[in-house]
Amino acid sequence: MKLSQILFSQGFGTRRGCVGLVFSGAVRVGGEVVDDPDADLPTDGLVLEVDGKPWPYHARALVMLHKPAGYECSQKPRHHPSVMTLLPAPLRERGLQPVGRLDEDTTGLLLLTDDGTLIHRLTSPKKHVPKVYEVGCKHPVEAALLQRLRDGVVLDDDPAPVRAAACEATGTHDLRLVLTEGKYHQVKRMVAAAGNRVERLHRSAFGPLVLPPSLAPGQWAWVDIDHGGPDWSAAPALGPATTPATP
Ligand code: URA
Repeated sequence: MKLSQILFSQGFGTRRGCVGLVFSGAVRVGGEVVDDPDADLPTDGLVLEVDGKPWPYHARALVMLHKPAGYECSQKPRHHPSVMTLLPAPLRERGLQPVGRLDEDTTGLLLLTDDGTLIHRLTSPKKHVPKVYEVGCKHPVEAALLQRLRDGVVLDDDPAPVRAAACEATGTHDLRLVLTEGKYHQVKRMVAAAGNRVERLHRSAFGPLVLPPSLAPGQWAWVDIDHGGPDWSAAPALGPATTPATP
């Protein structure tokens, strides 16, 4: 693919802007400046360097973001900045969208992608992709609460009960909940319906992807989907609660 087309596909501006970027000498490949916008490059395994920063080529973008509290997932946020402001310009330019939403005060693993088919696949209730939440509760976590969440609770917008796919206590006031749907405020409403109250909420895993401890709040990382991608139906390999639901 031509270099200027590659830059355009990766979100480095308009077609004309990408031609200008190449002419300006800001783009290197393999350590050498490439100043011909028509240079034909193989994209597989390509790592560009734009203004000194490495940028691996991805035909489709999927990133995981460690969402901090105080950010909204909406494209048009009302009270707090959007999570999009935490991503670099090329990813915003590519039109990445959050895969589902986390509340403003929820922290943890948020996926964003420009692949509409993948968004559909990951958010469809039929696909049962497991999401793991670490929940800090107001009142002690008792066996009866866990049993109610496993048996299913009725929420106000649907007479059919919603169940936790799995649920365990991780502390006197903490529990870990695995859900396979993504209803509005689902964790907070389920815990309330079961007789407790969510005080802190953190998503530690989405499908097989676990938020790495090395990814600090506000940081993001690529997830490679150009070569098949993860097995989304696989359960996350979680040990004991390593990422406690602390603010
Ligand atoms: N459930 C909630 O209640 N809030 C979230 O942010 C995610 C799941």
